[in-house]
Amino acid sequence: MKINDEFVVEIEKLDHQGRGIARAFEKTIFVEGALPDEVVKIKVVKIKKKIVEAKMLEMIKGSSKRVVAPCPYYDRCGGCDLMHLSYEEQLQFKANKVKEIMRRYAGIEEDKIKTIVGSDVPFYYRNKITLQVQKQIGLYQKKSYQIVPIDACMICDAMMNEIMQSLKKMTLIGNGQIIIRNSRHFPDTMVVFVDLEVDGWEMLKTQVTSIVKRQGKQNHILYGNDVIYERLKDYIYVISPDSFFQVNTAQTIKLYDKVEEYAALTGDEKVLDLYCGTGTIGIYLSQRAKEVLGMEMNEHAILNANRNKELNHLDHITFQCGDVSKLIDQIPWKPDVVIVDPPRAGLDAHTLQMLKHINPKRIVYVSCDPMTLARDLKELSSDYEVMEITPVDMFCETYHVECVTLLVQK
Ligand SMILES: C[S@@+](CC[C@H](N)C(=O)[O-])C[C@H]1O[C@@H](n2cnc3c(N)ncnc32)[C@H](O)[C@@H]1O
Repeated sequence: MKINDEFVVEIEKLDHQGRGIARAFEKTIFVEGALPDEVVKIKVVKIKKKIVEAKMLEMIKGSSKRVVAPCPYYDRCGGCDLMHLSYEEQLQFKANKVKEIMRRYAGIEEDKIKTIVGSDVPFYYRNKITLQVQKQIGLYQKKSYQIVPIDACMICDAMMNEIMQSLKKMTLIGNGQIIIRNSRHFPDTMVVFVDLEVDGWEMLKTQVTSIVKRQGKQNHILYGNDVIYERLKDYIYVISPDSFFQVNTAQTIKLYDKVEEYAALTGDEKVLDLYCGTGTIGIYLSQRAKEVLGMEMNEHAILNANRNKELNHLDHITFQCGDVSKLIDQIPWKPDVVIVDPPRAGLDAHTLQMLKHINPKRIVYVSCDPMTLARDLKELSSDYEVMEITPVDMFCETYHVECVTLLVQK
């Protein structure tokens, strides 16, 4: 087999990134955009030992699970991966992916994986978009720094698409980014110009509540507030330009409800909320906790967390700013429940050992990467039993999946 060879294959299944997998000439062939049972004509674009990447040239037999992607940029843009698959099948794909990863890498049986929590509306859900600017405004192509110019994004809140129209009328000098963040429950929208000189930003004043210019690590408020407000059920949160906040607000409530269910608080428990961001989870659980301590290394997020504590009139929650793997050595009390919500890389070795040493009754692990989750669950399995894992679809139309896991002390 050589580059540019063309031949016909039948797709067996999807890989974890949603690419079709076929086998031919004793090689595994990855075909972007192809679905299981489809027969497609492909062209070889990359060969690595036993692995081949190929481009789909022609559909010979399509799948009944295929839908027409409604986004005009879908074929080129790197933002979404599964828009050609019906939403029901996307959920099935994510549930199967979690099951397979857990069985293979953590020895966890299928019955522990509960029904995936789907979204009522799989489009227009994102509360944040990072647009790339290099003469044009758009999103990166898959695995490339080439920009696909876009006028609108179908997974972003509709309001952001209106702002995009105004951005196109401005003069933007330099190579940078524009971040748009908005609130579902307050009329708040923030635009952050990153490493760009902007002529005409004033026209946004009628559309947004906050305009920020970021140069390196410094944020300068050009207009309005330094934060946006968001509500999750009974709680109000402020979010500053640099703080993490879950991107799918509607699904976040379902995610945190699952965390609350797994934490099973009665009012007597001390809760440690590791990687707490703006304090969202700890605050969400606070009504049923005796005391909460949140830890987070982003100082902007910790400033937000303390403001959130005041906004919600809570006095039994505190926050510490620093690296969890260091702060975890000096916990002031033994927690009954520990919540962990680390970045994609998962937990580091020291934090894993310390969790076992602290030995809380329950650990609730929120993860956005099933691979690192499986690795960490395997490590914790010496002291903890995995009771159940619930996948939650926070990132509709993409291959990403969030999981909430309940671990109980053995
Ligand atoms: C996935 S976010 C979760 C935030 C929060 N739990 C939420 O639901 O909004 C992960 C957070 O961990 C923080 N973080 C990353 N590495 C860290 C570390 N080593 N120590 C403390 N915080 C860290 C990030 O700044 C980010 O706010």
